[in-house]
Amino acid sequence: MLKLRSGLSFVSAFLIKAILVRIESVYVNITYVQDAVAKGAVCLDGSPPAYHFDKGYGTGVNSWLIQLEGGGWCNNVTSCLARKGNRLGSSKQMVKLLPFSGLLGNKAGFNPDFYNWNRVKIRYCDGSSFTGDVEEVNPATGLHYRGARVFLAVMKDLLAKGLKSAENAMLSGCSAGGLAAILHCDNFKNLLPIGTKVKCLSDAGFFINTKDVSGAQHIEAYFNDIVTTHGSAKNLPPSCTLRMKPSLCFFPQYSARGIRTPLFLLNAAYDSWQIKNILAPAVADPRGLWHGCEADIHNCSSIQLKIMQAFRSEFIQTINGLGLSISRGLFINSCYAHCQTEMQETWFRSDSPKLNNKTIAKAVGDWFYDRSPFQRGDCPYPCDRTCHNRVFDPQEHPLI
Ligand SMILES: *[C@@H]1O[C@H](CO)[C@@H](O)[C@H](O)[C@H]1NC(C)=O
Ligand SMILES: *[C@@H]1O[C@H](CO)[C@@H](O)[C@H](O)[C@H]1NC(C)=O
Ligand SMILES: *[C@@H]1O[C@H](CO)[C@@H](O)[C@H](O)[C@H]1NC(C)=O
Ligand SMILES: *[C@@H]1O[C@H](CO)[C@@H](O)[C@H](O)[C@H]1NC(C)=O
Repeated sequence: MLKLRSGLSFVSAFLIKAILVRIESVYVNITYVQDAVAKGAVCLDGSPPAYHFDKGYGTGVNSWLIQLEGGGWCNNVTSCLARKGNRLGSSKQMVKLLPFSGLLGNKAGFNPDFYNWNRVKIRYCDGSSFTGDVEEVNPATGLHYRGARVFLAVMKDLLAKGLKSAENAMLSGCSAGGLAAILHCDNFKNLLPIGTKVKCLSDAGFFINTKDVSGAQHIEAYFNDIVTTHGSAKNLPPSCTLRMKPSLCFFPQYSARGIRTPLFLLNAAYDSWQIKNILAPAVADPRGLWHGCEADIHNCSSIQLKIMQAFRSEFIQTINGLGLSISRGLFINSCYAHCQTEMQETWFRSDSPKLNNKTIAKAVGDWFYDRSPFQRGDCPYPCDRTCHNRVFDPQEHPLI
């Protein structure tokens, strides 16, 4: 009886959630950039790049939001080959209709400042945060490392569709796409007319260079492999690569300093991807002592929490290390989360995360339109009651 009842309430909760998602999001069809193939601007498998585009209207008709999809990276032939057969390496494997919600949503009540803009989501299929460019294609693997060419080819296509006369333009992205939004921010600005108001928003793209729990510099070696495999060095911000080892410039802490276009950094201080893959990756935790904690922050031991608090302090110090800039936006909350712009519940809802009583949507909108600057953090876990802390299936431990 009890079981049946909880089963029913589970079903009804699921239905309500499914209905809500339908109201809050709009499904947008895919566009393939066929003529990019001739320029060698292709996904890992050689297929054309793709994006989803929902046209702006009303006051938003000349405003453009370009969102770069995330999905980790591939750092060597083995991991890139593994992507060739899925949506992260081939447009042949992508679903045609994608739900647009959160900052991509098309209703004023859910997305007050960007709902009627031209909204584009660029699909991610190169494995390098859109930075790779290797001419040679090994016939044995058939792998194309061409992320930077993909970025440029898609931008050219969008410029022709009206982006070239944008009044407002924002380049954004989450995770690997949030990193790409930083690395390409000035390139994006340079493609647009002088008079366009251009800014960039990085959601969960600020990956820090730090030691893992075993004391190794795992993420530094991993990022170095990405940059080497994809030939990315020449496409990273020159203000950084001129002064240090180019592969380090894949880290925003070294490359964001030289970016001249206004940049908003939105990141959880205990970014769940970073805790799982930078602080306590599988290689540094062979006995799996961190699995329960990584799946649910409530299950971290006091020692693990202490280590995570130290990670948060280092994260904040790293952000502060960028130096002062009045044009920079900062929303650094002490939540166990990764990507907070594309989901309605974290972007703009009565119970969404807030800092200084502002949702992310309001903070970003006010910053973009120069209504008010925003540079805020909060106090350490568990003090921020507005967090939506992620809970994962403890079995899964993917590197994306
Ligand atoms: C979506 O676009 C594809 C290719 O551009 C087209 O073949 C398909 O008919 C479109 N589907 C819908 C539902 O509009
Ligand atoms: C490739 O990278 C993966 C991690 O993504 C690692 O597990 C594997 O050992 C690497 N393979 C080679 C051949 O270096
Ligand atoms: C977290 O702890 C609770 C209670 O101790 C337990 O039931 C649950 O399975 C744990 N979750 C994970 C992901 O380890
Ligand atoms: C927080 O914001 C809400 C809605 O914008 C407002 O109604 C409320 O009074 C604010 N609370 C505080 C403490 O400022």
